[in-house]
Amino acid sequence: MTDIQTFPDVVRAHAEHSYAEELTALATVDDRPRPPSWRLSPWAVTKYILGGTLANGVDITPKYLGSERLVEIAVASLATDRALLLLGVPGTAKTWLSEHLSAAISGSSTLVVQGTAGTPEEALRYGWNYARLLAEGPSRGAMVPGPVMRAMEAGSLVRVEELTRIPSDVQDSLITILSEKTLPIPELNTEVQARKGFNVIATANNRDKGVNDLSSALRRRFNTVVLPLPDSLDQEVEIVATRVRSLGEALELPADLAALSEIRRVVTVMRELRSGVTADQRTTIKSPSATLSTAEAISVMTNGLSLAAHFGDGTVGAEDVAASLVGAVIKDPVQDRVVWQEYLETVVRNRPEWKDLYRACRDLETSN
Ligand SMILES: Nc1ncnc2c1ncn2[C@@H]1O[C@H](COP(=O)(O)OP(=O)(O)O)[C@@H](O)[C@H]1O
Ligand SMILES: [Mg+2]
Repeated sequence: MTDIQTFPDVVRAHAEHSYAEELTALATVDDRPRPPSWRLSPWAVTKYILGGTLANGVDITPKYLGSERLVEIAVASLATDRALLLLGVPGTAKTWLSEHLSAAISGSSTLVVQGTAGTPEEALRYGWNYARLLAEGPSRGAMVPGPVMRAMEAGSLVRVEELTRIPSDVQDSLITILSEKTLPIPELNTEVQARKGFNVIATANNRDKGVNDLSSALRRRFNTVVLPLPDSLDQEVEIVATRVRSLGEALELPADLAALSEIRRVVTVMRELRSGVTADQRTTIKSPSATLSTAEAISVMTNGLSLAAHFGDGTVGAEDVAASLVGAVIKDPVQDRVVWQEYLETVVRNRPEWKDLYRACRDLETSN
């Protein structure tokens, strides 16, 4: 997209800019067939997502840590005429994966519709520049195409975030687009037909309140891939460590993660509270109201990194993570506080090597 300039000091660069070198290196070695309009072959897209070393020695960093097969299924389905729906609890990298898929396949991840209860039909179709509409009457020049229409014209991917938060009648305007690959424009007595390469990646949480389930007509147009929570502690620690390290670099936080031990502890707390049982399977505990996802662990550790950098000794310790850990767990000030207190007293307190964490959390209580 040429109308979007890149500045070196943006807070967060788009995937296609952050990883431009990797994408170029992949395109150079990629000699496999590419579906129409794709920048890379499905093999190279998968390599970009999962990481590895290329034949020319270039290292590709892993973006998504998880099942290779899952990524292959997602990529393969985008090469068909069916759209892709990434489903999962919050924080399972649905948005992250869809951004990287669009960057690798279409070279741009910026065509995106954010689904909310107030998403209007114009966002999925087109709106009007009213000044021009009044001056000229309905014309192509007076139209304001939405991201989906622009993707259809460009033959690229478009992302629809949180599809199930969009009101059902608005959702259903996707049906014609996905089944007929055309967007009728009755005002101009014409239509926009999707160019080859057009497809949709939608994400949806399956544990959202107030969702509008997909109609069966719409659901049939999607291949669904469910993104799971990481199945082992080690895997989740690795995900958190990788992301926190790169976030810390991007934010230029002059602090050390030191060992993985602090991450391991935070991830253990999250996993235990999430599953309702301690890691040794001995003690059952209550779960708090919020989903304690990998993403929460990442933000707890990033906050810890910032505290350690600016107010601590530069290495993340218990006192740096305690505050945001408690904040992540206690979302409902009454119920969750009880859950957390119980966990603190029955689990954290009884682990001799967690004494510092127990003390840091207790200190927070008394200072409140
Ligand atoms: N399996 C995973 N591999 C890599 N990163 C992950 C994984 N799971 C979670 N994350 C990280 O969690 C963060 C939040 O993910 P996000 O895509 O916003 O979640 P969702 O859209 O599913 O709610 C991202 O920074 C992402 O890197
Ligand atoms: Mg998301």
